[in-house]
Amino acid sequence: SAAEKGGYDYFMLKEIAEQPKAVADTLLGRIDAAGSLTLDELRIPDSVLREVDKVVIVACGTAYHAGMIAKLAIEHWTRIPCETELASEFRYRDPILDRRTLVIAISQSGETMDTLMALRHAREQGAKVLAICNTNGSTIPRESDAVLYTHAGPEVAVASTKAFLTQLVACYLVALYLGQVRGTKWGDEIRAVVHDLAAIATEVDRVLETMEPVRELARSLAGKNTVLFLGRHVGYPVALEGALKLKELAYMHAEGFAAGELKHGPIALIEEDLPVVVVVPSPRGRSVLHDKIVSNIQEIRARGARTIVIAEEGDEAVAPYADHLIRIPVTPTLLQPLVSTVPLQVFACELATARGNEVDQPRNLAKSVTVE
Ligand code: G6P
Repeated sequence: SAAEKGGYDYFMLKEIAEQPKAVADTLLGRIDAAGSLTLDELRIPDSVLREVDKVVIVACGTAYHAGMIAKLAIEHWTRIPCETELASEFRYRDPILDRRTLVIAISQSGETMDTLMALRHAREQGAKVLAICNTNGSTIPRESDAVLYTHAGPEVAVASTKAFLTQLVACYLVALYLGQVRGTKWGDEIRAVVHDLAAIATEVDRVLETMEPVRELARSLAGKNTVLFLGRHVGYPVALEGALKLKELAYMHAEGFAAGELKHGPIALIEEDLPVVVVVPSPRGRSVLHDKIVSNIQEIRARGARTIVIAEEGDEAVAPYADHLIRIPVTPTLLQPLVSTVPLQVFACELATARGNEVDQPRNLAKSVTVE
């Protein structure tokens, strides 16, 4: 009913709007006044976490994209090797797991059969399993050694939005906590990021306030067949997520690529007026990647692509090559997906509406897939 949708036309719009609160709720009580992380609820003793020598993340769909970003955060802040794998592939390849492996299973519903089977397999091999989940008491957390709940609240729309942002927050918390417990040379950076994370909900809110041009752009592309998405580092999983949203909602051919791979094939797809969304890394910090993406944008534009560029406020270098420029707030590099994903959600939702599709219940999809 309209009341359930809080005045919005679709649950998805409501859930997109709820993201600042979902993010804040997921952080609530987990960062103390001194800026330290307190994840006592994990119930895995720090002594065990100090011994972990490998992290494996398993998930499906949107949660898998959160896991891809988590890998970068975990390896950077903890120096523990981490791999992220599609849950449906994981147990069929005889993965190497033992008592010192921490497996993280990410799932909004807590009922996805592929993810459940992957964690059962991991536990059989003696690995410790931590669930990151949005649904209290669901099967995945019940069968795990520990759980860190995301506090997105119920997500009704099939295409995941607020659950994704809170999965990212939970992953950052785990990564930062592992770094804190184990003590790394990134101590100062960890403290700075914890500080920025505490303020990130406000930044998500700022993004939401500037979405009208994105909706307008989406409507103007309703007649297109294909949209490509490019990104690097954390921007690559964001590109995959942007493409997934467009497939799910707009039923369009959409593909995400690592921008560095462009020259190894995808550039052959570029043709006159093809919309290409590019997620640009911050020009600060990893500026090498920024410069490389700027040349990618020039290359595709020279071949006639219509460039839709998502870039940090103050990043002037990209502006001359952007047919459409979507600004996002300045964040630490690893946190950027919390703000760069939001325009892609709005973009897909508006395109679906413009194409007359059912936004909350896309054809052929289920909110939670309880078969293998
Ligand atoms: C389904 C949904 C996706 C979701 C995936 C994983 O395919 O349509 O939106 O990302 O399952 O769901 P989970 O509940 O495990 O996060």
